Amino acid sequence: MATINKNYNKLQGSYLFLEIAKRTKDFLEKNKGVELMRLGIGDTTEPLSKAVISGLSAGVKKLRKKKTYTGYGHPQGKIELRNALVDFYKKRKIDLRPEEIFVSDGAKSDSANIQSIFGQDNIAAIMDPVYPVYLDSNVIAGRTGELKNGRYEGLVYMEGNEENDFMPPPPEVKVDLIYICSPNNPTGSVATKNELAAFVDYALNRKAVIIFDAAYAEYIKDESLPKSIYEIEGAKKCAIEINSFSKWAGFTGVRLGWTVVPEDLVVEGVEPGKVISLWARRQSTMFNGASNIAQDGALAALSTKGQKESQKLIAYYMGNATLIKQTFSNLGFKVFGGENAPYVWVRIPPSLTSWEFFDKLLREAHVVVTPGSGFGLKGEGYIRLSAFGDKKNVKRAMKSIEKNFKP
Ligand SMILES: Cc1ncc(COP(=O)(O)O)c(C=O)c1O
Repeated sequence: MATINKNYNKLQGSYLFLEIAKRTKDFLEKNKGVELMRLGIGDTTEPLSKAVISGLSAGVKKLRKKKTYTGYGHPQGKIELRNALVDFYKKRKIDLRPEEIFVSDGAKSDSANIQSIFGQDNIAAIMDPVYPVYLDSNVIAGRTGELKNGRYEGLVYMEGNEENDFMPPPPEVKVDLIYICSPNNPTGSVATKNELAAFVDYALNRKAVIIFDAAYAEYIKDESLPKSIYEIEGAKKCAIEINSFSKWAGFTGVRLGWTVVPEDLVVEGVEPGKVISLWARRQSTMFNGASNIAQDGALAALSTKGQKESQKLIAYYMGNATLIKQTFSNLGFKVFGGENAPYVWVRIPPSLTSWEFFDKLLREAHVVVTPGSGFGLKGEGYIRLSAFGDKKNVKRAMKSIEKNFKP
């Protein structure tokens, strides 16, 4: 008799965005004709840049002719694309080799799957609040015990709060895998070089591996802040970096990301290069390579023209972030993030839970946000607003909040 993977039973409730969708649907059923303004999900809304469209179109055209048609490609991604990514890092004075880069269908799958190459008994540390994928993938893999009072047994939580500007220090106890997301989803905070250096020191001393999610790196304006963990000395010995074309080039629907596994990465008991070969084996067994069309689009996104056009997209969304930040500050809320990241994190009054606040905003202002508690215990007391969205819609939402919301 087949049985299920019982670890799924340990997962907390439904996926956050399914619950948001359910509550908004219920509201709309009871309030027919109301037009909602959605600032909840971090999904891009603006069309792809001209450069990307022509790259994608060229990719499609190649498939029209026998001479240029391609089927399965290199499992790690087209060499031209990996070389372009090598150049992308070179501009940040980081030397990588194309063999260390793995192109994929996005950062979500990579950040969920990467844990599978590490031992079952590894102890993982995640930040709280956290992008839920790191947590859930480790629960499903059986690396945790049961959920008790909002905390999984066997997992280490690094608590983000206002005192540490939502970028907690490395754990005091010994852990093996450390997930860092910077710029951070959901809080919009960004780790400084010193903060990342503390994690690299920790990882080198304790032979831990950092999994660094840099999906929002292109949103960093402040040049003193690191866009890649490899800007920190020694990081190639202890960190895997995951990135994506989703947020800065509008690929949330096209789907393309990449993961860097450095040759020098050291893991207890194995020779350098072993971790690359494990990830290569995992990907070639369970993934058949990213779409060739999407890869042509990504090559165009990395071109000088493509990167320039992406800067406009980023500026557009960051204009929304500024507006959201200003509106909530003017209303007397304490506001975080939204400067080097497309998320604004707002402290709510202690009299309401973040789901109650979500319902109140929905009812009074018809605006959908994300309740902080969906990102962990330490997210309670906050909401997240996404700067991804049509400017007119964001303006309408802010006006509605100013006019109709009674804090
Ligand atoms: C921190 C973080 N990493 C990864 C992703 C997913 O990226 P992708 O679209 O490349 O799967 C998201 C999406 O919201 C995210 O917030």
